[in-house]
Amino acid sequence: MIVVLAADHGGANLKNELAAVLRDKGYKILDLGTNDAEVSVDYPVYAKEAALLVAEGKADRGIVCCGSGIGVSIASNRVRGVRCALCMDENMAELSRRHNDANMLALGGRLLDVEKAKRIMESWLETKFEGGRHKRRIDMIDGI
Ligand code: RB5
Repeated sequence: MIVVLAADHGGANLKNELAAVLRDKGYKILDLGTNDAEVSVDYPVYAKEAALLVAEGKADRGIVCCGSGIGVSIASNRVRGVRCALCMDENMAELSRRHNDANMLALGGRLLDVEKAKRIMESWLETKFEGGRHKRRIDMIDGI
C-alpha cells in the first residue's frame, strides 16, 4: 500500500513520527513535507497535493496533519473522490473506514499526543470498508 503524507508546520512533527512508523512497518511512503515545524507554511498547498495523489490513484491512502487537523481535512475534501476523515480517537478512525471508506485521515498535531495518533493511524489503516448499504451512501456523496 502506498501512503502519501503531508503536513503544515503545525502538523510536521506528528507527520514525521507517523512516517517513521509506516516505514518500519514496510509501507511505501510518499512524504510531501513540510518537515520543519518552525517555518510557517500554508496547509492548503500540502493538503491539495496529497489529496490529488489519492484521487488520481497514485497513492492508496493519504494522511494529512496540521495544528488541529481541521484545515487539512477541509482542503482535502475539496478534491473530488477524496473522503478525508478528521479523527480524534481510534473509534472514529475505525468508523471512518467501516462506514465511510475514508481514503484520507486528518490529524491534529497540536491536539493529539503522538502515541494516541499512532493508535488512531493503525486503527484507520487496518480497518476494512464494510460495503453494502454504506457503498450506496458513498455513491450518493460522489453524486453531489
Ligand atoms: C496554523 O497555525 C494552523 O492554523 C493550522 O495548522 C491548522 O490548525 C489549520 O486548521
